[in-house]
Amino acid sequence: LFSVAFLLRGPAGPLVAQLGGSVLLPCSAETPLPLEELEVEWRRTDSEALVHLFQEGEVRPESQSYDYSGRAHFLTEGFAAGNYSLLLTNVTRADGGLYICKVFTNLDSNEITAEIKDIGETLTVFLKAILSLSLGVSERLVVIGTGVASAFVGDEVTLDCSVDSHIPPGELENVTWKKKDQEMLVLVFRYDQIVPVSAHELYRDRADLFTAEIPKGNFSLRLKHVRPEDKGEYICEAHSGHLSANTIIALQGLGKTTDY
Ligand SMILES: *[C@@H]1O[C@H](CO)[C@@H](O)[C@H](O)[C@H]1NC(C)=O
Ligand SMILES: *[C@@H]1O[C@H](CO)[C@@H](O)[C@H](O)[C@H]1NC(C)=O
Ligand SMILES: *[C@@H]1O[C@H](CO)[C@@H](O)[C@H](O)[C@H]1NC(C)=O
Ligand SMILES: *[C@@H]1O[C@H](CO)[C@@H](O)[C@H](O)[C@H]1NC(C)=O
Repeated sequence: LFSVAFLLRGPAGPLVAQLGGSVLLPCSAETPLPLEELEVEWRRTDSEALVHLFQEGEVRPESQSYDYSGRAHFLTEGFAAGNYSLLLTNVTRADGGLYICKVFTNLDSNEITAEIKDIGETLTVFLKAILSLSLGVSERLVVIGTGVASAFVGDEVTLDCSVDSHIPPGELENVTWKKKDQEMLVLVFRYDQIVPVSAHELYRDRADLFTAEIPKGNFSLRLKHVRPEDKGEYICEAHSGHLSANTIIALQGLGKTTDY
């Protein structure tokens, strides 16, 4: 039927993603293919769900599976360069699995597969590369968290946040922890020290960082005496010059029983 006249390149190995974050699924041709002939189809291999489609010179969101609506993106400058990689945003657990990138021209076709493995806690160099890409303007400032944490009332909980940059922690303008819904400041770290007065009184004596970990870029929050009202989303945000980046961690499971 079709002959393979162009080479496609996919990922070198399984990909990892952060829950709620973004992941780039690589798929590119050695040389750009003529746009007027081009069809690019990304599918799940297990469910056959159509993740994203480019056909007859246009992106076709209407053909897309509902699960991926608004979350799958081709790269703006990609097609002209033969780069048919897919950027998947707002990653969910269900996104784990195998994907296939099928590329057609009038006479030829080829395909590669990509696998998303490990959604969530794994911190690897690969993940950092993907995150720095998805953060766009903040290329050199990357903030990584675990996405979720849980605790029981009265306990202590650690909300993970790693700041990866080439800037020493002491030169970071600030790292702030905020409760997302009320925009309440939980902890402010500015020019190498915690600024206790900046924190909301609800958190002032309960929130701390792991001092010894700061030089490694570990700005994980240690919240003591957890209260039911602590449940919710927290943002860890780092600022340096014109750069800023953040991660959101949902604190859940505040109860006395594990099935909460
Ligand atoms: C992705 O997440 C952001 C932030 O939580 C939200 O504003 C946006 O609506 C989400 N987009 C989709 C397509 O779910
Ligand atoms: C495709 O574009 C992405 C985003 O700009 C980039 O990271 C990737 O290296 C490109 N792939 C190729 C083969 O150029
Ligand atoms: C952190 O730095 C940014 C950038 O300079 C600034 O806009 C923000 O107000 C600062 N936040 C705090 C709590 O100092
Ligand atoms: C940050 O430090 C805390 C306390 O030692 C630790 O539990 C956590 O795993 C560290 N996070 C990272 C990403 O290393």
